[in-house]
Amino acid sequence: MDQRIKSNLKKKIFIKTFGCQMNEYDSNRILDITKKINYFPTKKKIEADCYIINTCHIREKATEKVFHDVGRVKKEFKNKKKPILIIAGCVAQAEGDLILKKDNYVDAVIGPQSYQFINKIIKDIENKNKQHNITNFDTVKKFDELKTISSNNSKVSSFLTIQEGCDKFCKFCVVPYTRGPEHSRDFEDVLNEADGLLRKGAREIILLGQNVNAYNDKKNGKRLSDIIYALEKKKDLLRIRYYTSHPKDMTKDLIEAHKKCTKLMPLLHLPVQSGSNKILKSMNRKHNIKEYLKIIDNLKEKNSRIEFASDFIIAYPGEEQEDFNQTYELMKKIQFINSYSFIFSPRPGTPASDMQIIDETLAKKRLMIFQKLAENIKMNYKKKLLNKIVKVLFENKMTKEKDKYFGRDEYQNPVIVCSKKNIIGQEKRVLIKKFSQHTIYGELINTDNFLAA
Ligand code: SAM
Ligand code: SF4
Ligand code: F3S
Repeated sequence: MDQRIKSNLKKKIFIKTFGCQMNEYDSNRILDITKKINYFPTKKKIEADCYIINTCHIREKATEKVFHDVGRVKKEFKNKKKPILIIAGCVAQAEGDLILKKDNYVDAVIGPQSYQFINKIIKDIENKNKQHNITNFDTVKKFDELKTISSNNSKVSSFLTIQEGCDKFCKFCVVPYTRGPEHSRDFEDVLNEADGLLRKGAREIILLGQNVNAYNDKKNGKRLSDIIYALEKKKDLLRIRYYTSHPKDMTKDLIEAHKKCTKLMPLLHLPVQSGSNKILKSMNRKHNIKEYLKIIDNLKEKNSRIEFASDFIIAYPGEEQEDFNQTYELMKKIQFINSYSFIFSPRPGTPASDMQIIDETLAKKRLMIFQKLAENIKMNYKKKLLNKIVKVLFENKMTKEKDKYFGRDEYQNPVIVCSKKNIIGQEKRVLIKKFSQHTIYGELINTDNFLAA
């Protein structure tokens, strides 16, 4: 076939995404970039000409999972043309050489800061079929390239990465090694991307970063609060959120924004990791419990409606019963409405990986006790929502159930209602009628004349 005709044919790309919201954002941006070379997204993986696995390295067995997934792709495509298989994300960054060496079914590994090269890599593989390992830390170039490509994301609630990487070096964490040093995007570029998302229909923007509140565009003297104030002025935008934050970077101006910005949602994800100062010190967390509680108090003083979510590592090396009790007590004291808790997982290359781990049975027991408490707190919180009126931003229509719409309240609780009218992209008042473990069900009230406050 004539080479030009061949290259003009539409091809299909499928991405399987693991890990945090930043990976989700990256996967969407990869789909935007690869459209330039005629690759269009498909939801049916078996149709893929290019198959990307966007990986996460945060907890155990990440590399094994990748090999497992590669095996599955091989099986699925046994009687079909082999797709171009690319391993992207944090495992690619950390274990790229090993992956390529161990399995030549993989065509390329590409780290999270190198997606600006993805089209070139795909083209090279199409033409030459040789393996590639692209794992530079060039965040500046990544975002310079991304700003020239508009986002095709038309979601009501859209992610926008404003900051990448981490300089904190908590002893347990791989992120500084997989995402590289802290880098903040240019302030104007961020606002331009936000405008693009709003034109496509976004009504909520979730600002993302491994340490989103460390955002610091030094060239223009802008911090995260400046982005929030600028977004607050955008007419079509109804809601602003940001995550994940580090307690050390909860600056006064940012705390003040929680009072002044009505579009900034009253839920803050502020990982604490442990309730014990001894453990926090050994983790190199750079904050203690007194400082953490002070931040919570300051935020509540500025905005009495604010609630908190957090991350916890249970059974960190050296965690004694007393340390665990302090974590348990902190959970009871703050009543986090959402919490993500995991047993410490030694990550290769991190300082904590050499430390003496805690007996597995004891670790599991502590996790179970902690998660039971977290679940009770959550259920009690949900019970209190019954017969209350909440504001819900509707994101989509449910595919399997007729006239049912899915949205989230201000605290990001998933809410389902029935509506004959299309309410996607609208914020409505909802009376909460019942809830299950994962979802809340309600009824629309005053449908026609509610305007967002
Ligand atoms: N930057 C955020 C912060 O400082 O809190 C967190 C980012 S990290 C991607 C998300 C969460 O993964 C952490 O808050 C931590 O609870 C968990 N995590 C990271 N490394 C871990 C490990 N080695 N074992 C268990 N959990 C871990
Ligand atoms: Fe990891 Fe967050 Fe610590 Fe950075 S601040 S090393 S991302 S846990
Ligand atoms: Fe995982 Fe990398 Fe995110 S390790 S949590 S995908 S930054």
